[in-house]
Amino acid sequence: MNGWSGSIRLAPLPLPKLVEMATKLTANVKAGGCASKLSPKILDRALRSVPRVTNEKVLVGYDTADDAGVYDLTQIGGAPLAMVQTVDFFTPIVDDPYTFGAIAAANALSDIYAMGGKPVTALSLVVFPAKGNVEDLEAILKGGADKIHEAGCVILGGHSISDDEIKFGYAVTGLIDPQKILTNSGAKPGDVLVFTKRIGTGVISTALKKGIAETEHVNESIQQMLTLNREAAEALSGLTVHACTDVTGFGLLGHAREMALGSKVTLEIRASAIRYLPGAIEYSLAGAHSGGLNNNRDFVESCVEMDSGIPPEIEALLYDPQTSGGLLLSLPAQDAAQLAGAYVIGRVKDRGTKPLEVIA
Ligand code: CO
Ligand code: CO
Ligand code: CO
Repeated sequence: MNGWSGSIRLAPLPLPKLVEMATKLTANVKAGGCASKLSPKILDRALRSVPRVTNEKVLVGYDTADDAGVYDLTQIGGAPLAMVQTVDFFTPIVDDPYTFGAIAAANALSDIYAMGGKPVTALSLVVFPAKGNVEDLEAILKGGADKIHEAGCVILGGHSISDDEIKFGYAVTGLIDPQKILTNSGAKPGDVLVFTKRIGTGVISTALKKGIAETEHVNESIQQMLTLNREAAEALSGLTVHACTDVTGFGLLGHAREMALGSKVTLEIRASAIRYLPGAIEYSLAGAHSGGLNNNRDFVESCVEMDSGIPPEIEALLYDPQTSGGLLLSLPAQDAAQLAGAYVIGRVKDRGTKPLEVIA
């Protein structure tokens, strides 16, 4: 595919201004950002019926629920090279269209970084109301393009659909050394678990939708979502890293579960070691929990041994869908010590009764 295609074609700009819509982007959205994901229960069941095709060029497929797929491009006698591919798009998580576009781009790029790749090309996925405000669409595309370019990545085209609920994101392709792929399935007993961002973007966006979020809390959450995982991923070069994944829609415990299952270990996570965005605990206490949070808990809970001393508002945050969340890494303690900007949240043990243990 080349250039733009789709059920609505984008006419050359400038366009006449259409019917004015309220520019509160999150107002018409059932669930914002990664909380708009399909429930993991439904997805898991549907994917099980899809026939598996084995291909020796596929270095990482979707069997282990990793962040992105990796396809070997190495030619006989040539230098090792592989392609890493991912796609992510979602509903508005903030009201400002430019910021929404930029967050959607940072979130889509994240899976490339989580595999240890370098993003090179992107294709836009746009779902926008036919009667929507064209200036909003321009701003979304501009915000996305600026963030994609910040990553040193280039947009080749995209596809658009007209529908009432806005959705936006990208399919991103990156390049990677096939010997340096970071998967979510190599965590080893004795490793420490580190995390690179704070938890709480989901509850803060739900609080925003409910009209109870303070502006400083929303801005802090936005700054974090806008931060590329590029620096965090680049800091890993030269270090031993056994497993890596970014924490997004399935929440900290949802993505930790995939790492634990893929690595056949138990991850012990210390709830009090986790850093939460300002306001997150208070909104969680106020019940600002998205449907996605409850879906995640539903799906993951049976895999978790939860210390009874953990307050319910903290427990809920461990299932909170994160948009453009941080990297969760499993690595030896001496390598973790060299990572600035990351902090220890737990450790890896031999597989116990449950894949996940949360201690106070
Ligand atoms: Co991911
Ligand atoms: Co993803
Ligand atoms: Co990965």
